[in-house]
Amino acid sequence: MAKAPKLSALAINGGKPVHPHPWRTGNFHFAEELAALEELLSGPALPLARGRAVMAYRQELQELYGMKYAVPTSSGSTAIHVGLFAAGVGAGDEVIVSPLTDYGSIMGIFQLNASPVFADVQPDGLLMDVKSVAAKITPHTRLIMPVHNGGYAVDMPALMRLARQHGLMVLEDCAQSHLASLKGKYLGTFGQLAAWSTNESKHMKSGEGGFLLTNDRKMAELADLFSDKCYPRFPEAPPTPAFPALNVRLSDVNAALARVQLRRLPKWTAQRQAFGLKFFEGIAGVPGIKPQPQPKGALPSFWWALFVVDPQVLGVNAGRFCEMLKQEGIPCMAGPQRYVPGWEVFRTLDRSPNAFRSYRPGRLKKGFYPLDVAPNAQSSAERLAVVSMTQHNTPAEARAAARAVRKVAGALLGKAL
Ligand SMILES: Cc1ncc(COP(=O)(O)O)c(C=O)c1O
Repeated sequence: MAKAPKLSALAINGGKPVHPHPWRTGNFHFAEELAALEELLSGPALPLARGRAVMAYRQELQELYGMKYAVPTSSGSTAIHVGLFAAGVGAGDEVIVSPLTDYGSIMGIFQLNASPVFADVQPDGLLMDVKSVAAKITPHTRLIMPVHNGGYAVDMPALMRLARQHGLMVLEDCAQSHLASLKGKYLGTFGQLAAWSTNESKHMKSGEGGFLLTNDRKMAELADLFSDKCYPRFPEAPPTPAFPALNVRLSDVNAALARVQLRRLPKWTAQRQAFGLKFFEGIAGVPGIKPQPQPKGALPSFWWALFVVDPQVLGVNAGRFCEMLKQEGIPCMAGPQRYVPGWEVFRTLDRSPNAFRSYRPGRLKKGFYPLDVAPNAQSSAERLAVVSMTQHNTPAEARAAARAVRKVAGALLGKAL
């Protein structure tokens, strides 16, 4: 019978680490990117709007995701902002969003003078809980923004049912979930709109960049106009700027880079999935540890390999568990997504709804953002942890990460696992 690992065998206590080698990394940009830029720069002056690279990129995005319209933008944040405008979000509206996300999910709501409303996350996971969304709907709700954090699916069939019942629009934040799917359907193709980021940290990287997809022609045209100074650059466009707008187009330079990355995206996502699925397989059955809970038929895109630590079972929280895992040679982090209602901007709005001259949502009252508005999310750093990874990490490293989890959990429980 295998022996239970002793606490003294843990690397944090001076024992031999499970994975004493550097975690793999490598390049993300290659000769094809240089060739694409060279081609662009050898033509006439770089175009300001609707250049060849941007227009080809639109087409390729539409084909890959099977959506009718793509609007590339300067970032994921602006893709969301533009999408919210196209969905008709405006002053006094409420947008239900996750309390664990990037500021990019929130900024566009502020810019349109609408109010973010935080639904809580699952009691044992990172994702927006559909029951909590239902409880946050008011007569002022206009749109729900599920965030597929880390490439893991919010329960979209249940969320879409709820949205239909209440006549609400859905914009999926897919910044971290390129090519993730649910029952064979890509995340981002469930709601009326979806937005992606292609910044440096994402599955595909163009430095800065983002895009919006929709099947709705009217919304696509509004998004196009709103992101492009409302200039008449397509046949049905109004002849002069017809409403307040922005200039947040994607440049041809970023589009040329993004096109190359888009071609690699399926292979790179598959490599991430091979790592993530191997890790999940390896931690199956470990008491007090489980993969992020997911709806049936979900295939995450693994921005990170996300797992849940049960402090009641293991006697340590996710932060302490990660410190031990790191010493075993596995890059690991607890609380991967920050608690948004705790940010200074929300503490200020809670005290003083008119604190910012640039933000006048009208209906906001004092005390609208209590610190504990989403208690599961607020305490999530106690439970949630991730193994950091990219497409360069291998199934062998995933097996090592799972062995390290088993060793640490085994030592804590005094059991061979
Ligand atoms: C969940 C989420 N939403 C939105 C964004 C905003 O994207 P960008 O940084 O490209 O503006 C990010 C970027 O990190 C993100 O992770």
